[in-house]
Amino acid sequence: MKILSIETSCDDTGIAILEVKGGEKNPTFKILAEGISSQIKIHAPYGGVFPALAKREHIKNLPILLEKILKKAKLEKNKKPVDMIAVTYGPGLEPALWTGIVFAKELSKKWDVPLLPVNHMEGHTLSVFGKNSGSFKIPKIEFPILSLLVSGGHTELVLAKDWMKYKTIGETVDDAAGEAFDKVARMMGLPYPGGPEISRLAEVSRISNLKRLGSATARARGIFQQKNIRTLQNTNSAEIYLPRPMMYTKNYDFSFSGLKTAVLYLIRDLEKEHPDKLQFVGMKESIAREFEDAVVDVLTYKTLKAIKEHKVKTLIVGGGVSANKRLKKILTQKIKAENPKIKVLFPGKKLSMDNAVMIALVGYFRRNKATKKGFDKIKAVGGLSL
Ligand code: KG4
Ligand code: ZN
Repeated sequence: MKILSIETSCDDTGIAILEVKGGEKNPTFKILAEGISSQIKIHAPYGGVFPALAKREHIKNLPILLEKILKKAKLEKNKKPVDMIAVTYGPGLEPALWTGIVFAKELSKKWDVPLLPVNHMEGHTLSVFGKNSGSFKIPKIEFPILSLLVSGGHTELVLAKDWMKYKTIGETVDDAAGEAFDKVARMMGLPYPGGPEISRLAEVSRISNLKRLGSATARARGIFQQKNIRTLQNTNSAEIYLPRPMMYTKNYDFSFSGLKTAVLYLIRDLEKEHPDKLQFVGMKESIAREFEDAVVDVLTYKTLKAIKEHKVKTLIVGGGVSANKRLKKILTQKIKAENPKIKVLFPGKKLSMDNAVMIALVGYFRRNKATKKGFDKIKAVGGLSL
């Protein structure tokens, strides 16, 4: 069967067409075409996603992207090109979600194919099984699965004892991890989205610290030649300390708002000492590093605790923040040290961001719920949970 999927929950317009062959027990997925229209440049001046603009851009992009994807997949739009449509209906920005839903409803009626509303967070969970080209199969997975879902809007620990059966055991009580990255970046005058930018600066700080220490390993790797960063005394991350909020609480909830405020106060205090102190060489890098370390520490600590308590066999990490190299490195290292039998799955870089491939994957597994009737009941649900 062929599935067309549509993703418009935030600032990326995504469409994919997947072909699934081989039957229910051993399906093979083939990406016939997939694509994303990113709106980053449009929202960047606002330092975050501007919902009305996102809506306008999705409406503009959807038909153009569809033409492109159908062409790439060598399918004709007038001849019922697919067997089913899957569309994200939440969580996300409602004006943005609606654009995808309305578009999907029109196509479903036109082609007379069933439509399935998909939960975006379930998409991020299944994204670890996908690829953005070629064919793939779902590997054998042992339960329970724990999913650490970290994106611009969510930070959740979700337990699954079987396929498609989720129980959220912890979530953020305020800001999401990605949101904190974006807000801290904004405070430091860095571009949107903040995650990749903070991560890049944090790495510069780590490398320059190696240089300062004169590490033989760094020299061997040629890091000295790559970066010419001077680290001023009193500005390396060892002297900057940020809190690890809620790290040792008994539950699995998170809080990143206090961490963000701590950065705000830190910048204010530094600027009191000298109005340009944030601009000093190595300063932004050091803050970025300590901030990234704080987020990674909290996420890692709670994830490890949940793995132990629930005897988890497989860890899935999904959502935009799963692209964070430090998180991947530390989490993987610590799990390997504690219990190397646990399988750790991260999505490939492209599938860690919002995309339509992950929506099509959910579409396949939930295909029995797709409907030709009751289209009108499908609505955008901004605060949808798993
Ligand atoms: O999943 P996603 O593409 O969209 C939402 O559903 O929110 O996640 C976007 C978030 C942004 O907050 C962005 O700053 C963050 O993911 N992000 C990162 C990295 N790449 C993207 N955060 C930390 N490190 C990264 N490398
Ligand atoms: Zn997302």
